[in-house]
Amino acid sequence: MNEILRPTTESSPAVVAGLPVLSVVVPTFNERDNVIKLFEKLEATLKGIAWEVVYVDDNSPDGTWDVVRELARRDGRVRCIRRIGRRGLSGACIEGILASCAPYAAVMDADLQHDETQLPKMLSLLQNGAAELVVGSRYIEGGSADSFNKQRASASAFATEVAKRVLGVAVADPMSGFFMIRRDRFEQLAPQLSTQGFKILLDIVATAHGKLKTVEIPYRFGSRLHGESKLDSMVALDFLGLVLAKLTNDAVSLRFLLFAMVGGTGLFVHLGTLFIALRVFELPFAEAQASGALVAMTSNFILNNFLTYRDQRLKGFAILRGLIAFYLVCSVGLFANVGVAFSVYDQEPIWWLAGAAGALMGVVWNYAMSGLFVWRKR
Ligand code: GDD
Ligand code: MN
Repeated sequence: MNEILRPTTESSPAVVAGLPVLSVVVPTFNERDNVIKLFEKLEATLKGIAWEVVYVDDNSPDGTWDVVRELARRDGRVRCIRRIGRRGLSGACIEGILASCAPYAAVMDADLQHDETQLPKMLSLLQNGAAELVVGSRYIEGGSADSFNKQRASASAFATEVAKRVLGVAVADPMSGFFMIRRDRFEQLAPQLSTQGFKILLDIVATAHGKLKTVEIPYRFGSRLHGESKLDSMVALDFLGLVLAKLTNDAVSLRFLLFAMVGGTGLFVHLGTLFIALRVFELPFAEAQASGALVAMTSNFILNNFLTYRDQRLKGFAILRGLIAFYLVCSVGLFANVGVAFSVYDQEPIWWLAGAAGALMGVVWNYAMSGLFVWRKR
């Protein structure tokens, strides 16, 4: 190995340069009033520890990245990753951890709801080998989440219960957004983690299948300093998707599940339109069937744009371009569907088997091609 790349001895250049031992990764979206305050708090609490903070900002409209960049110009311990055309808490955290090289990485929110004074304790638990993952927990003795309103508290408790029972997760607070992990362990799991949604800790714990030595420490989940929460009712859907994906051992991705679910609603839209076209407008069958298909494709497109691809939602003129591309993709998908159904029926004349094979072919085709041509990653 190259001498320069091996920072093993005390006098090696890496140690002299003071490489961080701890990377604190902070996902941000519209947090411009909080990021400096958080930095000052980290500075105060991490005295004597070589640390750095990586803010991962999804191109916030309020210009959070600009404030962080300015901070980074004054202090080398600060870095900013500005992601364009992407949204998502989990993906931001994953990217932030992978962009750093400290042996330990913490994830915490920017709004000061997490208690940064716990970080030194979390770090020493990892350093002395007592744990590979330390979770800041609201649901063990000494922890609390009194800042939650009733509705949020019961939603959180329900999701926690589902996660524990369905995924067999043994952590008391798998929904926590506050944790610290050993880098090598994280790097092993990273390729299997979902970048969509916000339940990164639950994903890590479920993916590790109990093989991650975990310690929970209590903390008080405080109130947000400035701004407002980004978690809306849609996160319930993300959560459901993650649970299903983990249950099927990642055979089906979150996005594919949503896409297929939307496709299922399309069937009802199609039949409903067909019925109205035949009965109310008294159209001939072929025209009625064509209108059914058109309306179903349009509603599928709208739903996918709002749910399945909400992190890459098309806006403005791009909606029209996307809709036309979606019509084209689905039309070809229909040929694939019918083609496969025919050839299966040819071999084995079982109508439902042939029909299902065709439908599966159609949804897989539509999904793959939509990802390429409609909601392509910018
Ligand atoms: N980069 C990026 N992209 N950051 C995001 C995004 C996003 O799409 N959405 C939210 N964030 C950032 C916020 O700016 C904040 O720093 C942090 O992620 C948490 O978001 P909040 O909007 O403050 O979430 P919360 O307070 O409602 O939820 C917190 O508590 C939950 C526990 O009940 C989070 O920590 C959740 O992860 C946690 O599960
Ligand atoms: Mn918050």
